[in-house]
Parts: sequence; C-alpha cells; structure tokens
Amino acid sequence: MIDAQRPTSYERMPNTACEQEFAILLEPSANRVYSENAVNMLRAEVGVFDEFLIDGAIGNVRVSTVAAAPCLRFSADGLTKRDLDCLANLSSSYVLFAVHDELLMPVAGTPLDRYDHDLLSILKYRGKTNEQFTKLLMNVTAATMNSVDAYLNRQLRVLDPLCGRGTTLNQAIMYGWDAYGIDIDRGDTGAYRAFISRWLKDKRLKHTLRESRVRRDGKTLGRRFSAEFAESKEEYRADRTQLIDVLTADTLHAADLHSGRGFDLIVTDAPYGVQHGAVNSQSKLSRNPSALLEEAMTGWSAVLRPGGSIGLAWNTRQTSRQILEAIMSAEGLQVVEGDHFQGFHHRVDQAIDRDLIVARKPHRRDPSA
Ligand SMILES: C[S@@+](CC[C@H](N)C(=O)[O-])C[C@H]1O[C@@H](n2cnc3c(N)ncnc32)[C@H](O)[C@@H]1O
Repeated sequence: MIDAQRPTSYERMPNTACEQEFAILLEPSANRVYSENAVNMLRAEVGVFDEFLIDGAIGNVRVSTVAAAPCLRFSADGLTKRDLDCLANLSSSYVLFAVHDELLMPVAGTPLDRYDHDLLSILKYRGKTNEQFTKLLMNVTAATMNSVDAYLNRQLRVLDPLCGRGTTLNQAIMYGWDAYGIDIDRGDTGAYRAFISRWLKDKRLKHTLRESRVRRDGKTLGRRFSAEFAESKEEYRADRTQLIDVLTADTLHAADLHSGRGFDLIVTDAPYGVQHGAVNSQSKLSRNPSALLEEAMTGWSAVLRPGGSIGLAWNTRQTSRQILEAIMSAEGLQVVEGDHFQGFHHRVDQAIDRDLIVARKPHRRDPSA
C-alpha cells in the first residue's frame, strides 16, 4: 500500500491526512552482536539516517515488540521511494513493516547490496570486526556526508587504513563502491588476497589481479595487491568496474601511499590492544592505540576529500572520546555531535567496550573550517 501511493519521482509528498506508522523487526543476529543493546543501536542508526538522509521525516521513534520479538516503531509523514531505499540498508533491520490497525504489511526499499551475503560472512577469524557492526559504521559515516545522492547513486571511494583481513573492504564492495585498504600485517593482507581471489573466481566475476611493490623516493614503502572486476562481462568491457586495492604497509605512510587521491570515506576499526596491537612510528607494539591514531590522523585527513567523512570504532576501555575528538579536531576535522552519537556504545566482551566517532572534513569554502 505504501508503494502504491508513492510518487515515481523522488519528491517528498507530505501526507497531512494521516501520519503512517512503521515497525522495524531486528535481524535475529543483532542481539548476539550487541548483547542487550541491539535495539538502541538501531534506534541511533535510524536517527542518523533521519537527520542526514531523510530530512527529519521520522518521528516518535520507540522500542516495542512484535509478538515477543523486539522491534523499533516510528511514525513518518510521506516517506519517498528514496527514503525507503535508504532504510533498506539499515544494518540490523530484518523487515520494515507499515502498521495498519496493528496489522503488519512488509514495505520493501531497494538495498545497495550487489552480491551474495557470503562475501561478508565466509571469512571467520579471531580479531575480525563483526560484519554487522562494520556495516553500521560504514552507514553512519556515509550518512554524515549529508548527500543522499552520494549514498545511493555514487561509486564511493572508501579507505580502511587499518584493514586487517578486509571486513570493511568487503562491505564497500557489497555496496558497489571501491575499496582501498592498508595493513602492516602481511599475514592479514595475504589472507585477504587469497580470499578475494578465490571469491572472484568462485562467483565467475570477470577480473584482473595485479601485484607490485610501492616505491617512493627510492624507498620501498610496501606491497600492493589490486583487483579490478565487474558484475558482468558487459560491465567489465564498458569499464564499469569496481576496484580493490590493498597495501601491506605502515598506515603512517598513508599520505605518501595515496598522494593525490581523495577518498570519500575513511572507515576503520582501531586496534584493541587485545587481539591486535597498534604499531606506531617507533615500531613499538602498544596496547593503547591513541599514539598510533594521533600520528596517523594527519595522513588520513590529508587523503580524505573535502566534504568526506571518517568513522572510527575503538575500545573505550583504552581511549576516551575526548582524546579522539582532540586528535581529529587538531587535523581540522569536524566531529559530528548529537544525541544519536551517544547511542552506539556497546559491550563486545570482557575486555572490549566499543564506541564509534565520526568527523567530517569541511569543504574549503566552509567559513567554519
Ligand atoms: C582491529 S584490527 C582491524 C580488523 C579488521 N577490521 C578486520 O575485520 O579484519 C586493527 C588492525 O590494525 C593493524 N595495524 C596496527 N598498527 C598498524 C600500522 N602502524 N599500520 C597499519 N596497520 C596497523 C593491525 O595489523 C590490525 O590488523
């Protein structure tokens, strides 16, 4: 019924006669990932989407249940097809329903997802950033670019400068975007190369793999592995390809490794000091990632395009939000504030409480920059 009433254009059609009621049923796995906090995480993600992508059309957001299953209820006035397409990407959403007299009618937007879900779920290893959380971090970071057209229609360029075995890279690929990664650990980048080469073959996606050494000023900074591929042979021949580019290198060289590039998004999960230490410029393995983040932020900010956003997840047992805000602000990045950003803190295990922080690189003409 919602779709039938919908205009074919992307204009919002206010429906003052009756505000529509909606319910989002949560992915069953969300409770496992976020302990008790799943529905609040979804509420915060919906809040960020509403603020940056949906023009504040959503209101009265509240936690409820469908039978015994937790759900998020909200009301909205005249959601467009484009709004529904955005909501179809929420990381913990299982099904979105329109509610009529307590009867539920499924409402489908078109998600960005291009490939089978196994792209995200096959690789399992100690220290993997949970894929549902990675999707949330990517969504929230992308939303703050404040451009629904960029989020839904552009082939964004995403860098994970601490990419491990590529959870962020795979999420970017899933959305049809280009994925760039840097990690210092040869074991991690090697495992990712092996995985993605196999996956491209298994899915029979036409692709070209390349490997090279990266040199600057006569010095070797690292090794590069890249894969260019497309969903179909026709797309490949027409140069409508996607790129994966992974460097085995120190992230402190990010600006040299990617000079001249402007990434739309930087999305990364900082070392937790539990599975992964942070390697800083003295090649010291530290349990506290602040020193690495402080050193690395200059280069990361340099390769982010004006108007782009950086989203960082970290262990709050080791570093405070205030320290990260100071590190980001010192590089001219504007930390995105607001109530929704208080809603992402959650427990991972005995040693890790995780949160996320997002900052934007101002446009050059922005007077507040
Ligand atoms: C939390 S893990 C990222 C996990 C990744 N998101 C995944 O799901 O596989 C942090 C990563 O930072 C990397 N790292 C630590 N110091 C680094 C440095 N100086 N340069 C590049 N990578 C570094 C570690 O090797 C580790 O893979």
